[in-house]
Amino acid sequence: MNLLVVCRCYVLLELLAVNCQNLIQGRIVGGYAPAPNSIKYIVSLQTTKGQHFCGGSLVHKYWVLTAAHCNIGTEQMMIVAGDYSLSTFEGTEQYSKPHRLIPHPLYNKTTNNADIMLIKLRVPMVIGSYVSLAPLPRQGTGVMAGRVCRVSGWGYTSLGGGQIPSTLLTVKLPIVSSARCNSSESFNGNITSNMICAGYNAGGKDACKGDSGGPLVCEGRVYGVVSWGNGCGDAKFPGVYTAVSKFRRWVDRTIYSSYIRCLKY
Ligand code: ARG
Repeated sequence: MNLLVVCRCYVLLELLAVNCQNLIQGRIVGGYAPAPNSIKYIVSLQTTKGQHFCGGSLVHKYWVLTAAHCNIGTEQMMIVAGDYSLSTFEGTEQYSKPHRLIPHPLYNKTTNNADIMLIKLRVPMVIGSYVSLAPLPRQGTGVMAGRVCRVSGWGYTSLGGGQIPSTLLTVKLPIVSSARCNSSESFNGNITSNMICAGYNAGGKDACKGDSGGPLVCEGRVYGVVSWGNGCGDAKFPGVYTAVSKFRRWVDRTIYSSYIRCLKY
């Protein structure tokens, strides 16, 4: 029998199985599976053993934007672009080890301030049908409270919900004003001007463990990097994201000066 036909049936069955699982148990928290390879700038950060631990966004063929708390060291890390299901080889994946990790110099792991990092890749990703670049907001541009954005990742579907789902998930969330996010009801003053919040007051939809570093996209641009929260999808506690627009200049300068250095040496 034709091998191609067998393969196709297998893929179809697998897709059905994945979809059924999604109906039974939502993923990210309260999200759904986007069309395969429709979010082409998202990358999975994995250990060299193939364990997914964080997300990221491809912002240049040689550079990934992620969270500083995803820094596990250059030797331990592998970056995968063009992925959808982490548990199946789809043939669309591209792999690179990091050449250099550049966490923001002001990153503070106690306060989570400036939780942003650039990864220079050893091998450039090839831009094409399955891999694209993520547009970033201009320096200092804000998103209004109530604007609906979208966060995606391969993270947990609930806190302590044990396992990493294998397909990418996404969920739509409104931006919450910093005033409300900082209120005593919520994060009580721990939200700095370098953070933005997104979620519903009732909870139920959120990013979770393993989504860190991944993109919160508003109006087609990566305005937020998944950073921290209180549990996952808890009422009154939106997710907290690094405000990318506060770091646009740092991103551009870091990438640019890396090439100046290349020319010099
Ligand atoms: N810090 C977590 C991670 O390392 C992600 C936190 C996001 N949590 C949330 N409730 N939005 O993956």
